Amino acid sequence: MSLLVRGGTVVNADRSFRADVLCADGVIKAVGPDLDAPAGAEVVDAGGAYVMPGGIDPHTHMEMPFMGTVACEDFESGTSSMLAGGTTMLIDFCIPAPQQSLTDALDQWTEWGKKAVADYSFHVAITWWSDRVAQQMAECVDRGVNSFKHFMAYKGALMVDDEILFKSFSRCRDLGALPLVHAENGDAVFLLQQQLLNQGITGPEGHALSRPPHVEAEAANRAIMIAQTVGVPLYVVHTSCKEAHDAIKRARDSGLRVYGEPLAQHLVLDESVYYEKDWDLAASRVMSPPFRSKEHQKSLWDGLVSGSLQVVATDHCAFNLQQKRMGQDNFTRIPNGTGGIEERLKVVWHFGVNTGRLTPNEFVAVTSANCAKIYNLYPQKGVVAAGADADLVVWDPQAQHTIRQKAHHSKLDVNVFEGLTVTGVPRVTISQGRVVWKDGALDVRRGQGRNIRRPAFAPAFKAQTVWNERTRPHPVRRQVQVQQTP
Ligand code: URP
Ligand code: ZN
Ligand code: ZN
Ligand code: ZN
Repeated sequence: MSLLVRGGTVVNADRSFRADVLCADGVIKAVGPDLDAPAGAEVVDAGGAYVMPGGIDPHTHMEMPFMGTVACEDFESGTSSMLAGGTTMLIDFCIPAPQQSLTDALDQWTEWGKKAVADYSFHVAITWWSDRVAQQMAECVDRGVNSFKHFMAYKGALMVDDEILFKSFSRCRDLGALPLVHAENGDAVFLLQQQLLNQGITGPEGHALSRPPHVEAEAANRAIMIAQTVGVPLYVVHTSCKEAHDAIKRARDSGLRVYGEPLAQHLVLDESVYYEKDWDLAASRVMSPPFRSKEHQKSLWDGLVSGSLQVVATDHCAFNLQQKRMGQDNFTRIPNGTGGIEERLKVVWHFGVNTGRLTPNEFVAVTSANCAKIYNLYPQKGVVAAGADADLVVWDPQAQHTIRQKAHHSKLDVNVFEGLTVTGVPRVTISQGRVVWKDGALDVRRGQGRNIRRPAFAPAFKAQTVWNERTRPHPVRRQVQVQQTP
């Protein structure tokens, strides 16, 4: 079964050009002007539209057990929702409980992932340490995992200390896998939470007050310094504030490979919502780090423009109102997480490209290509080129859409972008060479998604390994002094 995308402008991270795209057997066979449609081929009209690599969201939590409940989005609904938004692959977090075997947890997540309707892959979290964990990290790498996440927050649950960061980062370096950090000082957050509760602040505003920007910046900076000491690249997930971004900029200025990932939510939504009188409204926006002020949003956009931040994700982690109400009397019990996997591309296009902040090529870089490169998926993903997977989005830059919970494809009963009218929408989404979203309708098949293996030692790691070897410390050779007896 072949498919021809005809009459569009191909937009890759490096350039744009008029071309048709021929797909067959799930891959792109040819990209060029005036391609002929093979007999029986389906033809997709891309006239007046951009043909871009499907988005990749490297930060999601489908059906994740967390804070005494389970995220209500599963791999089937989550990947369906993402296709309706023009994203064709996600990387989800497998999170072993402390003391749990990493490979047992990966088995569990792999089983859950089999429901997916589009391609997916896994990071694995390091939530405790032992020789067995170090050994199992290698087994995870053999199973196609090339990134390990570390929570510096969630004290008493997922949080790890500096000793574990050091040991795990060192192990990542030796395995050619990328360490990721959720950067918030978990001790400081815990103490601030206690103070606020003692002051009688029990509502969602306490969530924002207990996680100020400097708590994030301190942890980002600490993780960066540990990565530098160890000699390994680092990726800071959900970078939400100017000061954490500044830490990443400083590190990059001094020659370190540190990557920063703002979320679509943090780019456009601000913290005023936590002070809303309507508890449900405020609680539905509770996530960590919290939404920030306009000053921080500006810094994140500046980073995407200048290249000091590379990837826009969502951290899609869905909790319905009933679940949020677990924290009715105590903000520390509100399950942390918000959605956005379906809205990410629209929001970044609308506020990025339509405002002149980003070129369409830079849009492709931050929503797909950079992610594919960092996670060693490129050029299988992240580019429209012969030989790449046929994961495409046909983007109509003129069409308008008003974001509504009632019309989205997620299981969430709220949408944090409710009521926002955007210009620029996915007209058609193509996954593995098949049209899965067209004219506002999904055509998906449960189980169609593949678990995509990501090999270790991405190019940056090969360079880092050479550098580490050249700068390895050596003992000072000293001549043995023979003592003269007088
Ligand atoms: O609030 C959030 N971000 N929930 C998901 C877990 C995490 O910290 O990424
Ligand atoms: Zn996190
Ligand atoms: Zn500040
Ligand atoms: Zn997350």
